[in-house]
Amino acid sequence: MAFVSDDLFNEICMSNDIIDYASSFMTVKKNGKNYMACCPFHNEKTPSFSLDRDKQLFHCFGCGASGNFVQLVMRLEALDFKDALQSLAERANIKIPENGRRESDAVTRKKDSIIEMNKLAARFFYDSLMNPETGRDARAYFSARKLSKETIIKFGLGYAPNTTDALLKELKDKGYTEEQIVEAGLAVMRNGKAVDKYRNRVIFPIINVQGKVIGFGGRVMGSNELANGVKIPKYLNSPQTVVYDKSSNVFALNIAKNSNTRRLILCEGYMDVISVHQAGIPNCIATLGTALTEQQTRLLMRYCDEILICYDMDEAGTKAALRAIDMISAAGGRSRVIRIAGAKDPDEYISKYGVSGFKTAIEKAMPSTEFKLSLIRRKYDITDTDGKVRFVDEIAQCLAGITDSVEVEAYIKKTADETGISERAIFGKYSEHKKKSPGPKPDRTKEDYKRRAVNLINSEKPKEDRVSVAVMDAERKLLSVIAKSRRLCIRASELIEPDEFSNNIYVTLATRMYDSAKAGNQIDEAVIVNEFSGNTDAENIAAAVFFNNEEYTDNDKTLYDLIYTIKLNRLERRMNEATDPGEIFDLIKQKNKLISDRKEWQIKT
Ligand code: CTP
Ligand code: MN
Repeated sequence: MAFVSDDLFNEICMSNDIIDYASSFMTVKKNGKNYMACCPFHNEKTPSFSLDRDKQLFHCFGCGASGNFVQLVMRLEALDFKDALQSLAERANIKIPENGRRESDAVTRKKDSIIEMNKLAARFFYDSLMNPETGRDARAYFSARKLSKETIIKFGLGYAPNTTDALLKELKDKGYTEEQIVEAGLAVMRNGKAVDKYRNRVIFPIINVQGKVIGFGGRVMGSNELANGVKIPKYLNSPQTVVYDKSSNVFALNIAKNSNTRRLILCEGYMDVISVHQAGIPNCIATLGTALTEQQTRLLMRYCDEILICYDMDEAGTKAALRAIDMISAAGGRSRVIRIAGAKDPDEYISKYGVSGFKTAIEKAMPSTEFKLSLIRRKYDITDTDGKVRFVDEIAQCLAGITDSVEVEAYIKKTADETGISERAIFGKYSEHKKKSPGPKPDRTKEDYKRRAVNLINSEKPKEDRVSVAVMDAERKLLSVIAKSRRLCIRASELIEPDEFSNNIYVTLATRMYDSAKAGNQIDEAVIVNEFSGNTDAENIAAAVFFNNEEYTDNDKTLYDLIYTIKLNRLERRMNEATDPGEIFDLIKQKNKLISDRKEWQIKT
């Protein structure tokens, strides 16, 4: 863990503001001294995700996700500890000294080298595009597609020259081997020889949220059908590498995430996204040649609450839109559908109807339910009785998947008006379908979370050592009380040993807090929680300790009561297990001693 000193760790975290940071991922509202948001790690409608600005910690009272600032960055941006800390350091303009670096393992080294090769390649492609001779045709192509110089620079577009080894040479000069270049997906093997993968194509770099070039798409200039009728692929894309996975990354999210709108426009192609951005609409993104995946949806939901789907209006596009709607709704997001009638894609729409035309289409985006219903409507002839019955049935089935009862009612009314069938009858159909569908899961509660934490702790233990929710709760509260007061921490250290806590996480927390208190130091929650970095379950359980929002009228008495409860439970667990009469007798003696000790504790203060 020790990759930077605790002091530098603190400096990096304290030079950033966790509320500021979190606000770019979610809507954060101040609530008393705390800040609350809807949890980015589970589905919920009422905020139970709490952020503590002073301690730089987060905790969800719903699902139990919990940790320090760096652990939040790790989870929100899918970074490892080192990269997350590095990213916070960069935000604050702090340089992490070389010797602060942990020796990177083989995978990290490979990732770093592919990212570095990609960066060099992107530079090379850009330079080739701008080269007066080499890039002439490519510049003409982009200009025919109405892309401005600013747009080209903004997206780092480029050109791969029409040779077999220009990029290979460039990268070999920089010290990379052919094998590495092939592994990065920048060259391919042909008849036992490495050749550049992209040749005579315009290049679209794919950049991840952290701003790193992870891959490329290369498009033929003009038609992908050769003179002899043979078709070649319109786009060549990076293969899966250690840094590039087309199903978990999103094109242009690095730019769109800064648009501050909590809304994203989802298109199908690179060219669409680029045209939309050029039109002054900065929140447009696309998947990477595949249908929207669950991973991508989860990534997107960190940056927005609503997605406007802007796919082609053909059958394939419509199908993909329906899939995307369900995917987004399952991830807890809202969606609408932008219809671009009269053009095959947004790029062409903007060309034909201008920026203002496209902006109007955005404003008129259709709520997803209405979009689904309109597709159902197209399938039936409702002047025919049989058609009408089947139409109503399918509408009712579609509505059964909706959680918002007001929305359901509105559409039932609409369907009744349209068909002349009574609202009551349609509602009946809807209820039938509703019973068949499992329905959405309710928000998780604090109690569920506690039960899960206890199960997790207990799962590693022999049966006789397992604890109840109540015991773990008492231990958690005790740790939270001593975290707030050095005096009480020292007092606790005199009365209860770290080993008397029921699980390793709490044992570690108690040990660390006792040590700080005895050394005369302030307890540093965020640093202590680092101890568990990399093990999400342990991070959650550890950091949750610092989020006890109960107020006690008498902290000293609470401390003694909790210590008593913990010790008593321990003894009783052992009594239940004991079979040897001598041992039982001894335990009874210990129990009596505990009861009299408890009175002593109170008097001593
Ligand atoms: N795509 C791909 N490989 C292909 C065709 C398409 O990977 N052979 C992916 C690309 O990500 C592309 C997206 O699917 O951007 C949408 O395809 P399409 O609409 O054909 O491409 P556009 O980006 O719209 O390109 P253009 O307008 O230049 O034809
Ligand atoms: Mn297109």
